[in-house]
Amino acid sequence: MRAPRKNSGRRATATLSTRLLNHVTLQAQPGGDIAARFDDVSLSLGRFSAEAFERARKLRVGLPLSTFASGSREIDKEVRTLVRRLAGRGLIEYRLGHSRSGDLVVIEPQVPDYWPRVPQLGNADTLVLSRFAYMRRRANKMVLESPRAGALFKICDSKIAVVLVALSAPQRIEQLRRQKDFPGLTLLALLVDCQILFKVDAGDGLRPAEGDDNLVLWDFHDLLFHARSTEGRHANPLGGAYPYADMIAPLPAVRPPWPGKKIDLREASPTPAEAVSRAATLLRERHSTRDFDDRRPITLAELARFLDSTARVQAELKTTLDQGGGGPELAYTVRPYPSGGASYELELYLAVDKCEGLPRGFYHYDAGAHALVPIEVRSNQLDALLKSAAFAMGVNAAPQILLTIAARFGRVSWKYSSIAYALILKDVGALMQTFYVMATDLDLGGCAIGTNNIELFAKMTGQQFHAEGPVGQFALGRGAKPQALR
Ligand SMILES: Cc1cc2nc3c(=O)[nH]c(=O)nc-3n(C[C@H](O)[C@H](O)[C@H](O)COP(=O)(O)O)c2cc1C
Repeated sequence: MRAPRKNSGRRATATLSTRLLNHVTLQAQPGGDIAARFDDVSLSLGRFSAEAFERARKLRVGLPLSTFASGSREIDKEVRTLVRRLAGRGLIEYRLGHSRSGDLVVIEPQVPDYWPRVPQLGNADTLVLSRFAYMRRRANKMVLESPRAGALFKICDSKIAVVLVALSAPQRIEQLRRQKDFPGLTLLALLVDCQILFKVDAGDGLRPAEGDDNLVLWDFHDLLFHARSTEGRHANPLGGAYPYADMIAPLPAVRPPWPGKKIDLREASPTPAEAVSRAATLLRERHSTRDFDDRRPITLAELARFLDSTARVQAELKTTLDQGGGGPELAYTVRPYPSGGASYELELYLAVDKCEGLPRGFYHYDAGAHALVPIEVRSNQLDALLKSAAFAMGVNAAPQILLTIAARFGRVSWKYSSIAYALILKDVGALMQTFYVMATDLDLGGCAIGTNNIELFAKMTGQQFHAEGPVGQFALGRGAKPQALR
């Protein structure tokens, strides 16, 4: 009798291919240009040879990366450029599968510059799932995601789930390879590249070992909320898209009253107009300004007053964790706006387009020293930041100054469990209202902005998105004229 065959883990290797999203087609234009067409849009991708277009046709079903990704022939370089351009515009996905069967996984990029990389893995490596990774149902498919990942993985073969469950505890690759359902090293490597899996060394604790110290303090739901409720690290629809306008009526602007006898407050406090306080007047006058008078930009002196009155550190104090003087020393500050636990984790970064007396550029506000520190950034990044603020306000011109409110997340999560990110957003609200009121007082105009691009900020500042990142934006300048509601 023949001995049963040993499972060597050397099954046919799955191929990694790139393919066009379903709704995208490629068209050769007269003159040699190739255009991508989707949703009534025609996007020129540049000039390519007829041979490159011929090979690009395979992108419909899947063009193996190995056929062009590292080749040195001119045609390989052309195809690489074309695929990179499609990738940069979010028009392709990647497929891992065997040629004659269906997909094992489909990889959907979540950040604009995602490119699948397959790091070397050896039998002696030990892998484990990131504590930020999760699987969920999306339509009729299961997706594996992580706020840290540059891509999500649509799981098309249920056997992969078995291996993922095993990876909730550290597994040596040589052990995994013996499993009947071993999906192949390429998939594991792609998951390592996306930080859905990570390598552990013997003796490492799983929480701190996950790459860097800035992750230790994050709760799972907080990092997910941060990455999915901002711009830059996901490919979901974002902003005022009214997705349910055809299906569900909007809720009324004012809540229908509770039944019961009303106590009429107008009778309780008949305020004569002249008795309205200065604070109440400022609150009534406050409004959002989206158009700015670029012939008379805000001045450096006005900006200095604005920052002094809204965000400057007024005093510093020290205490210890326990009242008896034990535990680590804690330092606190006093500032004009309230902050949960007096954490004051919010930092201000200024994208200056027009300000009399201050060169165009990107600055950090040092709230302790009451000073602006220039940060060198690429001019296309500064333009992109200002442009997206104009877009969010529905205007053409950039605001004179765009304040990015960034959070040093660990300052809050070092103390608070479960509520850290929520507290940060509440602090942003308190600061925004402080900005509005002070802008009104100084006869300036301002507007809160509901979106912020965490990936762009990370590129501009060189900081990881989970260490310090934007949680709010505020446009500031000299208002052109009062604006209607948005
Ligand atoms: C959290 C928050 C986010 C906002 N986001 C935007 C925005 O992205 N674009 C915009 O034009 N206005 C934005 N606004 C301004 C509101 O549209 C504005 O406050 C509202 O229409 C009421 O008008 P008023 O501020 O002039 O009283 C935002 C306001 C807040 C508080």
